[in-house]
Order: sequence, then C-alpha cells, then structure tokens
Amino acid sequence: MKLTQWALAALLVAGAGTPALADGDAARGQTLFSRCSACHTVTEQNKMGPHLSGVFGRTAGTVAGYTYSKAMAAYGKAWDETTLDTFLTAPNKAVPGTKMAAGAIANPQDRADIIAYLKTLGAS
Ligand code: HEC
Repeated sequence: MKLTQWALAALLVAGAGTPALADGDAARGQTLFSRCSACHTVTEQNKMGPHLSGVFGRTAGTVAGYTYSKAMAAYGKAWDETTLDTFLTAPNKAVPGTKMAAGAIANPQDRADIIAYLKTLGAS
C-alpha cells in the first residue's frame, strides 16, 4: 500500500515511466531549458546541436540530417534518466570526444527537472 502510493505520487510528478533518480519538475525544467536552447530546439529542427524532440527513449546519435561527433555516433545507448543524468553532469566524461562543449548542469535537482521536461517532448 505504501509502495503503491509512492509509485503513484512519483508517476504524477515525473509523468510516465520509472523514476530512477530524483523526481523532476517538468515546468521548472522548461525554464531551465534556456541553458540548452541556444543549441537545441524542441521542434524537429537541428541547430548547433540535434533537435531534442522525442529525445527520451531515442538511441543517441540518430537524428536524421544531423552530423554527430564520432564519439556520439558510436555511443549506442538510449537516452533515459540514467544516461541523460550522466551526460548532463559531465558531457565529455560520459561521451569522451563529444562536441557538446557546454550545457553541463552541476545541480542534481536542475538535471532531474530538465530530464522531466525532456520526457514531455514525446518519443520518436
Ligand atoms: C553550446 C551548444 C550546446 C548547449 C548549450 C547544449 N548542447 Fe546538447 N548538444 C550539443 C551538440 C553540438 C551535440 C552533439 C554532440 C555530438 O555529436 O557529440 C549535443 C547533443 C546533445 C544530446 C544528444 C542528442 C542525441 O541526438 O543523441 C543531448 C541529449 C543533449 N545535447 C542535451 C542537452 C541539454 C539537455 C542541454 C541543456 C542543459 C544541452 N544539451 C546544451 C550542443 C549543445
């Protein structure tokens, strides 16, 4: 019973899926996305970085028409709470050789909120 209530609450906060890390606030994440939007759109348009529409659940390095670094193209993992959290903590440590030169987020709650927002952008 207690676990069920917790799971329900987590689902309400995080949207869908299993919360592996801190629960994120998608509305706050949308505001924090200003740290990403210089290089990323949430529509299907690539800028300096690949678009992030449907990024959650997508395999890294697979947006059509975007030229990734060799490192990102070879990374091969899907973007979920864990891989996104690791990547946003230190892009160059998670994917050595990535050309994402900015966008590291030091604060764990900020990362969780941004990831919660990315989840709302649909799945491709
Ligand atoms: C200075 C520009 C810049 C900023 C700021 C930036 N990124 Fe990126 N991002 C990139 C580039 C360039 C790539 C492609 C990396 C590669 O090919 O190695 C990328 C790749 C990614 C990917 C992998 C996408 C895929 O299709 O596999 C994710 C996820 C991502 N960024 C999330 C973010 C988030 C979230 C933020 C904000 C917290 C952010 N980025 C901020 C430039 C940026």
